[in-house]
Amino acid sequence: MVLVVWNDRFSTGIPTVDDQHKTLFATVNEFHEGLVAGRAKDQLAVTLASLVDYTVKHFQAEEDFMKRHGFDGLPGHAGEHRLLLEEVSTFKAKWTQDPASVRPMEVARFLGDWLTHHIQQMDFQYAKFLKDKGITV
Ligand SMILES: [Fe+2]
Ligand SMILES: [Fe+2]
Repeated sequence: MVLVVWNDRFSTGIPTVDDQHKTLFATVNEFHEGLVAGRAKDQLAVTLASLVDYTVKHFQAEEDFMKRHGFDGLPGHAGEHRLLLEEVSTFKAKWTQDPASVRPMEVARFLGDWLTHHIQQMDFQYAKFLKDKGITV
């Protein structure tokens, strides 16, 4: 079962950003599918770790991009990125120490929701700013 499906409603119009978002969708789905299939926690942890690694790289790329082009919404946007990474790292710590205290399926749904909302509400803001300046790469 696929949790989140990328379609044009999520397109920022910036191909490199869209490609990164598609990879994030795919990895969130992989984590979710692993949970549905009842995969071992070690395997799920590997998927989650790669999701976090890729997310860190994506956030850095976006923040560098916004900085380079003088987008003044950068501090608020970067703050949302930091909050997400903090939430995921809190989840990972709890999951490692006391797996019964967390609900991984809720985290998968949260990540899917966060990703779709963040793209449409936050990423679209800098995408529009860049588009208005004629920048599309
Ligand atoms: Fe993004
Ligand atoms: Fe973002």
